[in-house]
This record gives sequence, structure tokens and C-alpha cells, in this order.
Amino acid sequence: MTRDKVSIHGAWASRWVFILAATGSAVGLGNIWKFPYMTGMYGGGAFVIMYLVCIFLVGLPIMLAETLIGRRGRQSPVNSLKSLALEAGASPKWSWAALMGMVAALLILSFYSVVAGWSLDYIISMGRGTFDGISAEGAGAAFGALTSDPWRLTLWHSLFMLLTGFVIARGVVAGLERGLRIMMPLLFVLLLVLLGYSMTTGHFMQGFHFLFDFQPDRLLDGVLAAMGHAFFTLSVGVGSIMVYGAYMPRQASIGATVLTVGVLDTLVALTAGLALFPIVFAGGLEPSAGPGLMFVTLPVAFGNIAFGQLMGTVFFILVLIAAWTSSISMLEPAVAYLVERTQRSRAFVTSVLALLCWLVGMGTVLSFNVAADAKFFVFAEDGFRLFQWGAEGGRNFFDSIDYLTSRILLPLGGLAFVLFAGWVLQRETVRDELALRHPRLFPWVYWAMRVVAPLGVLIVFVAELVK
Ligand code: PFF
Repeated sequence: MTRDKVSIHGAWASRWVFILAATGSAVGLGNIWKFPYMTGMYGGGAFVIMYLVCIFLVGLPIMLAETLIGRRGRQSPVNSLKSLALEAGASPKWSWAALMGMVAALLILSFYSVVAGWSLDYIISMGRGTFDGISAEGAGAAFGALTSDPWRLTLWHSLFMLLTGFVIARGVVAGLERGLRIMMPLLFVLLLVLLGYSMTTGHFMQGFHFLFDFQPDRLLDGVLAAMGHAFFTLSVGVGSIMVYGAYMPRQASIGATVLTVGVLDTLVALTAGLALFPIVFAGGLEPSAGPGLMFVTLPVAFGNIAFGQLMGTVFFILVLIAAWTSSISMLEPAVAYLVERTQRSRAFVTSVLALLCWLVGMGTVLSFNVAADAKFFVFAEDGFRLFQWGAEGGRNFFDSIDYLTSRILLPLGGLAFVLFAGWVLQRETVRDELALRHPRLFPWVYWAMRVVAPLGVLIVFVAELVK
């Protein structure tokens, strides 16, 4: 029996520390940077509704599945799946899903580090007062100057990767707890301050309607994007939450814990959206501006309010920390696995993996400037090409990795995890691990894991193909 095993990688002191760590993983650039710009690109309310549906019907059941598999297995995701599969008399090949997740997490880290690097740059610019009194146009130009400079991007990308590797090498359980206790509440308070500012712009209701108006005709436009983002923002489908589950104390109720993390994550994203869009409209900016959206709007806000220089600096420091606690969770599944497999030290394994991610990340750095014309997945009139320089359509390197991970690998990984928990593990095992506070809810939750979430993923894939 695996029931009373402990992980060799450490254990959280309590359920609350797990909540902090999992929230630290979930809340990151996905909430503050990616959610607003994707909402803008996919037209607002229709995307937000799809995203919320996916979070609650698909994302949360998968998060439950991952946490319970991790806690039951007490090892890296790959080995947890392998040992639980063998124990249940199923094929050890289930562990391939975790292997794929591991690779997906490393690919995400490669570009995440570049974007987190932007916030490092912004901490300095904010602190120096570069954005004082800046217009929307000026902020756009400042962002353009940053992304068109490969050296500047490389510097920050490298620094961020070092920061991530540093905590991982020392062990997440030791490194994370203290920082998280201060940083998560502070981040929320500052988001509320931003929200306060956006209420004074005179465009608050416009932003509100943009986010929450229901547009039935646009519902299918971004359905795969919305599901992919639900996975991304909850950090599910890659094994990050699973590996954190492996460090979770035995007594804690997984049900209530996961719900708390999911709700906090959603609140941060919606608050960020509500804070950003009024500023976008007030500055005459385009909601569909893409990845630069946050980096262009926030300087305008902070550049034009009292104590903006100070608050802006603190805000970008918090964004950096939020990104940091997320990126740590991306590296942990692979580090835990390789430590188990090779018996090498954490420091060694971390260095190798971080270097690898850094190298792949250089592709993203260059995709914003000198290699902007390097296009992958090109569907042209005369057929499909995997790569073409200067093609009209297609995706640059950053977009390609983002697309491949969020829209394909994470949903597939999540699907495998939830099917494993729902159909391979015994019902009693699942009930026992979840330890719901209201046991009468169990059949519903179990049903969500067995049927609703897997069907949800499949329906979205099919809807994307036929739309
Ligand atoms: N959830 C993180 C965010 O929203 O920024 C991103 C993320 C973390 C994705 C960990 C995947 C992961 F494994």
C-alpha cells in the first residue's frame, strides 16, 4: 500500500501551506498578463464565459484528480502514475502522460521566463520614473523598444531563469512558504488599488461590459483558447499540481483545498481584467493589442496617479514574484523525476534543466525581433508547411510554443490524469483521498471527474475542428 508514504522531496507544514503553494503556482502571469490580453483578442464576454465554464467543469475536476494522484503516489508525477497504475493492475504506460506534461511544463517555462523578464525591466523603469506622466502612445513605444532589443531581453530572461533555478535547487518546500505568506495578500491589495484607479478613468462601465456582456454569436470563436487558458491558469495538465499534492499532509481535505485555490485564481484574473480594460479604453488603446497589453496599459495608470512611481514599482515586483512562484512549479515535476531516476543532486539536475529551458527560451526572445519572420505551422493556399521564413500566416516561435502547450498538450495531459483518477483508481481510493467535508457530494464530484471533465475536453476539441 502507498497510503502512508512520504515524499523524499519534502512535505508542506500544513494544508494552508499547500494552498499557498498551489495558489502561488496558479496565480501568475496567466492571470495578470495573459487573461486580459486573451480576453481582448477573443472579443470579451464570450471568452470570459467560456473560460469560467471550463474552469469549473473541466479545470477543477482535473485539479482534484492531480492532487489526489500526487498525494496517493508521493513521488514525481511520472513515478506516482507508474506505481499507482501497477498497484491497480493497469498499464504503467499511463506514466507517459506525466512525461508529456513534464515536457510541456519545461516548454512553458521557456517563454514564461522571457515575459517575466519584461517585468524585471519594468521594475527598473518604474523605479527610475521613466513612466511619469506617460501617454498611451509613449507607453507603447517604450514596450516596443524593449521587445525589439534582443540583448536586453536576453539579460532579463537569463536573470529570471537563475532566480527560478536557485529556489528549486534548494528545495521548494523550504524556499516557498515564507515569501508566499506576505506576497499573495499584497498582490491582491495592489490589484484592488489598480481597480480603484480604473474606476476613476470614467471608462469603468465600458470595461465591465466588455468583460461580462454575453455575446452568443461569438461563443465558439475562442473556445479552445478559453479551455487552454483554463488549464494554463490553474497549472493543470502538466503535473505541477500533482507534484505539490505529493507534498501535502495526509489529513487535509482535498476537495475544499482545491476549490479555494481555483476560486482565488479566478478572482485574481477577473480583478486584473476589471482593472485593465477601463485603462485600455480611457487611453484609446486596442483591447486586441496582444501580449503587450498589460505592459502598455499599466505604465499609463501608474504614470498618472499619486504615488504611482512607488506603487508601480511594487506592483511589478509582485508580478515578478507571482511569476517566480509559478515558474518554480513548472520545473519541479521534472526535477523531482530526474532526482528519483538518476540519484543526482537537485542542484545538478536543476542546472541542466534550467539551461535547457533557457536555450529554448532564446527562440522566444528572438521571435520578438530578429526572427519575427520565422513562421511555423503555416497553412498556405498551396499546402501546409512546418516552417517558412517570412510567410504571411503561421505563428512565430513564441506563439507556436504557446499554442502547442496550452491548446494541445495541457488538455491532453489533463484528460489523461482525470481519466486515470476516474477510471483506473478504485472508487474507494478516490473517496478516501478526497475526504470531502460533505460526503454526500462525493457521487457528484466523482461523476464530474469520470464524465463531465473528459467529455468537456473532447467536446471542445471537436468544436474547434468543426467551427
Ligand atoms: N498558472 C500559471 C499562471 O497562470 O501564470 C502558469 C503555469 C504554472 C502553467 C505552472 C503551468 C504550470 F505548470
